Amino acid sequence: MIQAAAEFIKSRIKVTPRVGIVLGSGLGAFADEVEDAVSISYSEIPGWPQSTAVGHAGKLVIGMVAGVPVAVMAGRAHLYEGYTQAQATFGVRVLKRVGAEAMIFTNAAGGINLNYGQGALVLISDHINLQGSNPLIGPNDESFGPRFPDMSEAYSKAYRAVARECAAAIGISLQEGVYAALTGPSYETPAEIRYLRAIGADLVGMSTVPEVIVANHASMKVLAISCVTNMAAGVLDQKIDHEEVLETGLRVRGAFVQLLKAVLPRM
Ligand code: HPA
Repeated sequence: MIQAAAEFIKSRIKVTPRVGIVLGSGLGAFADEVEDAVSISYSEIPGWPQSTAVGHAGKLVIGMVAGVPVAVMAGRAHLYEGYTQAQATFGVRVLKRVGAEAMIFTNAAGGINLNYGQGALVLISDHINLQGSNPLIGPNDESFGPRFPDMSEAYSKAYRAVARECAAAIGISLQEGVYAALTGPSYETPAEIRYLRAIGADLVGMSTVPEVIVANHASMKVLAISCVTNMAAGVLDQKIDHEEVLETGLRVRGAFVQLLKAVLPRM
């Protein structure tokens, strides 16, 4: 199925994407930045999971951004939608087969670290997988990578250095932190957030980690950036709602687009 999807995409495009980019909740506007774009609806691609989450468009846009051939996934499949690990990571494997060598993952996340504020952009330096599962469970596909892939630099140090330099050059504040992934879809309780803080998490979210594991398995270099759309449960005396998550995504999109455009040519 992965091969069939990759062949289908190849038959439709003019340039081979070098970098795959996954857009998180509220960050879908970046897809409009792609020049000479070929836009393919997920529903057309054999085996590609449809995205049902609000704020996720459900299309693959392939073309040029800042002179770099990219494949932008506007919309991802989450475990909380009922998708399997294989479905949640399908797009990454397909993009590897299409020819991408690196991935940029973006997401909306709750801020656990009290130094963060709503709207902060945070470079993910590492993760804690609390989703109770792993996309590589099952027979190993040696054509992608080894049975026991190393994860000691899951988020490329070199890419992080580039992102920090670019952020400084354009005057965007960029923090760095550890992302904890839970399945959701309920947001965390305040007690869960205290626990996550105690074990070293700065951010919490419901995505990205399966994709990052699969990308590392396939020797793709990874850059990941979270947008702190809300402070995590219990940090502020207010409830979390998805509208707020989407609104914050829209508010930071200018900075976010600028940062990605600066980083891409150096990947
Ligand atoms: N928790 C989990 N996932 C999220 C959050 C949150 O507070 N905000 C955006 N995605």
